[in-house]
Amino acid sequence: MDDEGVVRLDAEYDEARLSAHFEALLAAGERIEPRDWMPEGYRRMLLRQIAQHAHSEIIGMQPEGAWLTRAPTLHRKAVLLAKVQDEAGHGLYLYAAAETLGVSRAELLDALHSGHQRYAATFNHPALTWADAGAIAWLTDGAAVVNQVPLCQTSYGPYARAMRRVCQEEAFHVRQGYDMLHALCQGTPQQKEMAQDAVNRWWLPAVALMFGPPDTVAGGADARTAAMGAAVTRRSMAWGIKRHTNDELRQRFVDQVVPQAERLGLTLPDPGIRWNEERGHYDFGPIDWRVFRDSLGDGSLVARQRLAHRVAAHEDGAWVREAVDAHAAGGGDWREAA
Ligand SMILES: [Fe+2]
Ligand SMILES: [Fe+2]
Repeated sequence: MDDEGVVRLDAEYDEARLSAHFEALLAAGERIEPRDWMPEGYRRMLLRQIAQHAHSEIIGMQPEGAWLTRAPTLHRKAVLLAKVQDEAGHGLYLYAAAETLGVSRAELLDALHSGHQRYAATFNHPALTWADAGAIAWLTDGAAVVNQVPLCQTSYGPYARAMRRVCQEEAFHVRQGYDMLHALCQGTPQQKEMAQDAVNRWWLPAVALMFGPPDTVAGGADARTAAMGAAVTRRSMAWGIKRHTNDELRQRFVDQVVPQAERLGLTLPDPGIRWNEERGHYDFGPIDWRVFRDSLGDGSLVARQRLAHRVAAHEDGAWVREAVDAHAAGGGDWREAA
């Protein structure tokens, strides 16, 4: 056998051995760390998910951020400011986790700005009134918590550790959103009406888009999407990235929110919601996914505004990145350059 053949055989042997080690770590419930060998598909799937998650955190600052200057009291303003800043921090933890997979933050941001990587389309929904800030936090962040608590046990170490910090802060976000709506529901009839209107508009984006496409429910108009979703979910669960299907988490969210809405005195805009004694869960109406493709898709007006705003903020921050680079290169005192 020639030298090349020996090298090839060695490489195949190494890959089989490394793959067996990777599978053994997963089977033992151990975390995969950046130093460990991992299959290319696992790396790509993780990178896609973490990047999309990071992008959603920083784009998600925009709908509520628009209300910071119009918060009704100093207290509400301070709480909302802390919440929106937390989202920037979540983006930071997640970009840092993604960087351990061999891409730079600059590359990730380029992919967002050029439209090559997506973020949750939920945030293409405009925040029309002050009550929207409450509805976003209660419903959207509430859905995020349901999604993210299982991710604290995800198989990739840096992602799992980032999610633990994120989840603690998200719990506060949901609570402050609920509190905001509770105050409005105890206020004037107009305030309560404003809360109901915001919930009417944010319910479906939360229940549909925060959990992704159907991945277990077969048949009907979404059969093809569901089959594709199921294949991706199966792969992700085999690698220990996801722990539950999208539909399972969606159901968990509905079960959690329905009694809360009752306590607030608000009606969730789905006449199909009712307790199903046999299943031990709340039933809810089928989701018409076409609604979102038109109004919240990449080409929609708000989507273009969100991205333009993000790119402008990035360009405005160029001097900060240049100063940090100069400081790192020179090792001197950055104040001398000012
Ligand atoms: Fe967040
Ligand atoms: Fe949040």
